[in-house]
Amino acid sequence: MPMITDIIILAAGKGTRMQSALPKVLHPLAGQPMLAHVIAAADSLTNAKKIIVTGHGAAQVEEAMANTNSTFVQQTEQLGTAHAVQMAVPHLREEATVLILYGDVPLITPATIAKMLSAVSDSTIGLLTIDLDDPMGYGRILRNSQGKIESIIEQKDASPEQLKITEINTGVLALGARELMSWLPLINNSNAQGEYYLTDLIALARAHGYSISSINPSSAAEVEGVNNRVQLSHLERAYQLQQANTLMLSGTSLADPSRFDQRGNLSAGTDNFIDVNCVFEGDVKIGSNVRIGPNCHISHSIIGDGVEIKSNTVIESSSIGNHAVLGPFARIRPGTQLGQNTKVGNFVETKKAVVGDGSKINHLSYIGDAELGEKVNVGAGTITCNYDGVNKHKTNIGDGAFIGSNSTLVAPVTIGAQGFVGAGSTLTQNIPAHTLGVSRAKQRNIEGWKRPTKKEK
Ligand code: UD1
Ligand code: CA
Repeated sequence: MPMITDIIILAAGKGTRMQSALPKVLHPLAGQPMLAHVIAAADSLTNAKKIIVTGHGAAQVEEAMANTNSTFVQQTEQLGTAHAVQMAVPHLREEATVLILYGDVPLITPATIAKMLSAVSDSTIGLLTIDLDDPMGYGRILRNSQGKIESIIEQKDASPEQLKITEINTGVLALGARELMSWLPLINNSNAQGEYYLTDLIALARAHGYSISSINPSSAAEVEGVNNRVQLSHLERAYQLQQANTLMLSGTSLADPSRFDQRGNLSAGTDNFIDVNCVFEGDVKIGSNVRIGPNCHISHSIIGDGVEIKSNTVIESSSIGNHAVLGPFARIRPGTQLGQNTKVGNFVETKKAVVGDGSKINHLSYIGDAELGEKVNVGAGTITCNYDGVNKHKTNIGDGAFIGSNSTLVAPVTIGAQGFVGAGSTLTQNIPAHTLGVSRAKQRNIEGWKRPTKKEK
């Protein structure tokens, strides 16, 4: 029988130590809100019902997570973790197994979630614990003489002896919905913080004859919470290192995995090399034998095989054909499609430009709303004047055309195949195929002309 799972994600806390107007759980990790990472992990279980408990910044959190197919409940006053879970109770299904996660513990993995759920039975509840060298601040796990978990004691309620315990409560907990619903009302707030502690469930479960099955996460980062931006930066690096390792193990070399940032999905073939400080955003697909120089920013793009992207190149929502060479300092804006063996050199900006195989735009140009055939040569300083202040117009350049340096192509304009534009021209008319177009003032030399001299005072 498939398990019915209800996942409660606590996200009501203020996150005072973030020193931010943005609710804590919306702070990004690898480009996505922390809460989105937790939701993605929960979604590894198809059909799990997600109930998110919001509080501080509730409207903002709900808006940001509106398309995640979650149920939102508000906890208007933060009276403790058990009180927060209580808010979700009306949405629980009686036959469900309930898992409790945290919006500010973003790196929980699907594997651990699966282990937690399989630990639950009619007589057991699952608790995620870990041994820490420095257990300061966490609830400590109390075990009996047989080594069985009996209860959790919070840092602020613990005796000096209990504070020496290094096994801590991560907060992640799994149990039957019926048990949760019957035990929650038994929790009171008579403790050092005057809060309703969810951790009191453990002693209640024992009192009802249940045993506690402890599960360990695969790494400490998986259960680390974020209270401030320093902790967030540590988790960011831990996550980026995991992604870097996955990429390297699949056949891409990184000059330095600690200077690699992937904010989205990056798929790559083999024998690629990525130099330091490159940032990949959204869905990026890279072929094989690709070399990417230092400081490149590539988002939502497809890069073919054998492409060379030299340093400081920016590529956005574009596709790059096999064996193209880009940069250094190229800016490829959305809608650019570069053919095979194309070259786009330094200080070239393209936008909505379809460039045929073997064409070159080597230096200092703006090519926007343009279609270039094959083997076109665009000289330095060429500008497509695509905008008349109101509308955008298109430039068409046929196969094998040559655009002389410093030409301005006033769109709409068409240059036929093998057409030739004299350097420094301002084109306002089409050039037929195999034709030279020049539009510049004729040169005039003035003989005997005298240079100006300095005025006497
Ligand atoms: C809690 C656990 C502690 C554990 C630690 C792990 C309790 C009583 N203690 O302590 O054993 O070692 O987490 O990090 O559960 N929250 C709400 N509403 C509330 C209170 C909290 O949504 O009324 C949310 C917070 O936003 C946060 C999470 O629950 O995401 C944990 O709350 P926090 O107050 O940080 O608990 P800790 O004291 O860290
Ligand atoms: Ca905490």
